Amino acid sequence: MNFAVFCSGHGTNLQAIIDAAKKRRISAKLALVVCDNPRAYAVKRAGRAGIPVAIFGPKDFPSKKELEAAVVRELGRENIKLIALAGYMRILSGNFVKRYRNRILNIHPALLPAFKGGQAIKDAIQYGVKITGATVHFVTEDVDAGPVILQAACPVKNNDNEKTLLARVHKLEHKIYPEAIELFARGKLKVAGRRVIVK
Ligand code: GAR
Repeated sequence: MNFAVFCSGHGTNLQAIIDAAKKRRISAKLALVVCDNPRAYAVKRAGRAGIPVAIFGPKDFPSKKELEAAVVRELGRENIKLIALAGYMRILSGNFVKRYRNRILNIHPALLPAFKGGQAIKDAIQYGVKITGATVHFVTEDVDAGPVILQAACPVKNNDNEKTLLARVHKLEHKIYPEAIELFARGKLKVAGRRVIVK
């Protein structure tokens, strides 16, 4: 099974997925990296690993509809059966999500449904929670609200700042994201309403 990773930034999750695939902890083939920014460090990581990269910058397309149509064509060419969003900072349209229903995963740096959105680490510190973590979930039309596949928790310490907490959460992400991809690849995930049954 071929899968793609979509990212926008530093790509530490992409790297964890590349490393897991190398160690055969992921049996599916990472056939494509999709990125919206040619200068993202994730692009370098993909290049180093010899994985094809497709850049779809918003400025290169007259509309989001046309950008997504181009992405869909590229995914078709590479026979992509699963998409893993890894710090992809664009919201996919309802049409795109429908087309790949239950075939798009996302990683979020909090224990959903807590701290949805783009600044979950900062929000967790500001709220004062004692425990936070990471969530892998299926993507639905509602942002950060799809059925949960795997979660892992860690403490928030008194002296944490965004950097120290992000480092702790990243460790969890880098472990559970490859695991979730492998579960999907082995056909072990069954969506039943809001629940994901791990067979
Ligand atoms: C990850 O921590 C991921 O959970 C987060 O972006 C980071 C990307 O890091 N995603 C979100 O906040 C989505 N709302 P990376 O580029 O180093 O993998």
